[in-house]
Amino acid sequence: MREHLKHPIFKIIARLADSEGLETYVIGGYVRDLLLRRPSKDIDVVTVGSGIELAQKVAEKIGPRTKVSVFKSYGTAMLKYDDMEVEFVGARKESYQRNSRNPIVEDGTLEDDQNRRDFTINALAISLNKETFGELVDPFNGLYDMQEKQIRTPLDPDVTFSDDPLRMMRAIRFATQLKFKIMDETLQAIKDNKDRIKIISKERIADELNKIMQSSKPSIGFKLLDKTGLLPLIFPELSKLKGREVVNNIGHKDNFFHTLEVLDRICPNTDDLWLRWSALLHDIAKPATKRFVKGQGWTFHSHNFLGAKMVPSIFKRMKLPLNEKMKFVQKMVDLHMRPIVLSEDIVSDSAVRRLLFDAGDDIDDLMTLCEADITSKNAEKVERYMKNFKVVRQKLKDLEERDRIRNFQPPVSGEEIMETFDLSPSRVVGDIKMAIKDAILDGIIRNDYEEAYEFMLKKAEELGLKPVK
Ligand code: CTP
Repeated sequence: MREHLKHPIFKIIARLADSEGLETYVIGGYVRDLLLRRPSKDIDVVTVGSGIELAQKVAEKIGPRTKVSVFKSYGTAMLKYDDMEVEFVGARKESYQRNSRNPIVEDGTLEDDQNRRDFTINALAISLNKETFGELVDPFNGLYDMQEKQIRTPLDPDVTFSDDPLRMMRAIRFATQLKFKIMDETLQAIKDNKDRIKIISKERIADELNKIMQSSKPSIGFKLLDKTGLLPLIFPELSKLKGREVVNNIGHKDNFFHTLEVLDRICPNTDDLWLRWSALLHDIAKPATKRFVKGQGWTFHSHNFLGAKMVPSIFKRMKLPLNEKMKFVQKMVDLHMRPIVLSEDIVSDSAVRRLLFDAGDDIDDLMTLCEADITSKNAEKVERYMKNFKVVRQKLKDLEERDRIRNFQPPVSGEEIMETFDLSPSRVVGDIKMAIKDAILDGIIRNDYEEAYEFMLKKAEELGLKPVK
């Protein structure tokens, strides 16, 4: 492993570890990622002794301006070197009580420290001491599991998960990120311990969910959450999308699997977490709006509208941000059917302008979502939709160049209307403004001051109003 420890920080740590007589290792996620050739900037160093003291010595060696952040209650210390964040901790032994994630911590050996870790692939250590520099310490065959692409706990999985139930989410997150398989016994233990997830804070669960969402194929994670029974506990609305009902031999698609397909399909086209969330939530109100209508089959009327209304309560409960990110997701969910409806018809300029007006700067994201939403097995149908979307995209481009509707500002303001006709704020002012907007969106006039002013005069005349100047 020597060749992997090229970064100069390892030499510095190694020299001090030896001169201080401290058994010292690099451990955990950094070693895992190194072996998987995933770039990582977080180094965890464990020493059999005081991690804080070692960190302070290392900092002195690096230079007087090196700052050490000490977290006394955790017994850890962190410093930055180049672009690396290095965390130091003393090797420890942990024991847990039933109702808390906070363990009782004592000093321990390297082996104790490896025992307390979540998965064999996260328990690998590489020695930093001179005599053994670069040697891998792998008591649980983590290297083998890495080669076999499997996730397994070092100890009895029931103990590992019950001690810290967040690890159930971590197992699923690693399976998704690394495309590893969770081994049977470990998976079974997640099923058995699923109810313990309730002692985990919503923020930590959201962190793991977001990491699943940011992976290249998030469906892996959501299918595992479903399979283990965690999904209804942490995300009941998504779980309710599952299933297919049949009435009079007419079924509808399983909206859970459809949603996951849409989510996977959008990933190659965007890394934006919130656009991915929009894909996950686009049909979230389908169960609540589902009806079987004779002669029509299954309908999900206004599921976009209700879905957008559900977003804030879901975000609030899951401790996701309640800011413009959430508003963006709401908007996407609300508008997600508009381009599809458009592309089914002959695409009129007016309809495209209205879409552009409603979506504003988010129009490209909306189109990306809609393209991902076409999951039909019928290749011909998919091709037809995609072709129509291309037409819509081209029209959007042409009309935007001409009419600049994206961030529409009324060319004639309410104030000007009031001044021109000596009106006080009233409904008629709003009506004239709306008529101007509609005329622009319908292509009757261009998005231009002169044309809008002329149109205003004409409209006012119809209403029996005369300009005062
Ligand atoms: N760890 C653990 N149980 C947890 C969290 C962490 O046993 N609930 C251990 C694992 O050995 C892990 C190490 O602490 O490798 C560092 O944790 P962390 O930095 O949270 O995760 P990484 O494994 O480094 O992965 P990532 O950075 O992708 O979160």
